[in-house]
Amino acid sequence: MKRVAILISGGGSNMVRLAESMSGDHPARPVLVGSNDPAAAGLGKARDLGIATFAVDHRPFGGDRAAFEAELIRNLDAAEPDIIALAGFMRILTPGFVRHYEGRMLNIHPSLLPKYPGLNTHARAIEAGDMEAGATVHEVIADLDAGPILGQVRVPVLPDDTPDRLAGRVLVQEHRLYPAVLRRFAEGCRARLDLACH
Ligand code: GAR
Repeated sequence: MKRVAILISGGGSNMVRLAESMSGDHPARPVLVGSNDPAAAGLGKARDLGIATFAVDHRPFGGDRAAFEAELIRNLDAAEPDIIALAGFMRILTPGFVRHYEGRMLNIHPSLLPKYPGLNTHARAIEAGDMEAGATVHEVIADLDAGPILGQVRVPVLPDDTPDRLAGRVLVQEHRLYPAVLRRFAEGCRARLDLACH
């Protein structure tokens, strides 16, 4: 059984979907949920699901990312994870952290990468007049929101979309995409999965 640790910063809806998907004949189980924000709503949801949690508040570390990450690694490695799933984890990671989990860390990003790495992805897609938005699950490498693409889901942009409405429709599709990609990844499959919206 593969052991999965999930990192979040906020509501944790993707984390809940990932955790719930890992049952029965699934080759992985959720063993730990961590956050950089002790007040993240997702931590309570993880505890309700019976998953161990931890928080390392990044703020007391100031700009010392390496010290913050050393504390993250200490907590994560105590749970001996095989896979790290970033699910709305909003801290930029140093190359050292990425190297530590090389080949076993995934992220979900709310755009059709390589379009729109970084923030405000939905506003940027609408502003550019794109017909399609979506989400991408990729392996994490040192460059931000880059790395081999493991799966994408496409979502139409509607004529009078707002960033919030588009984000809501993309999030629903993220909840389909991420569990499907995680399962394949845990089975050792890194072939790209493309989901049609429905
Ligand atoms: C999701 O839309 C995810 O794609 C995005 O944050 C949201 C988290 O929602 N991630 C990023 O923007 C990463 N740069 P959730 O906490 O409800 O899963």
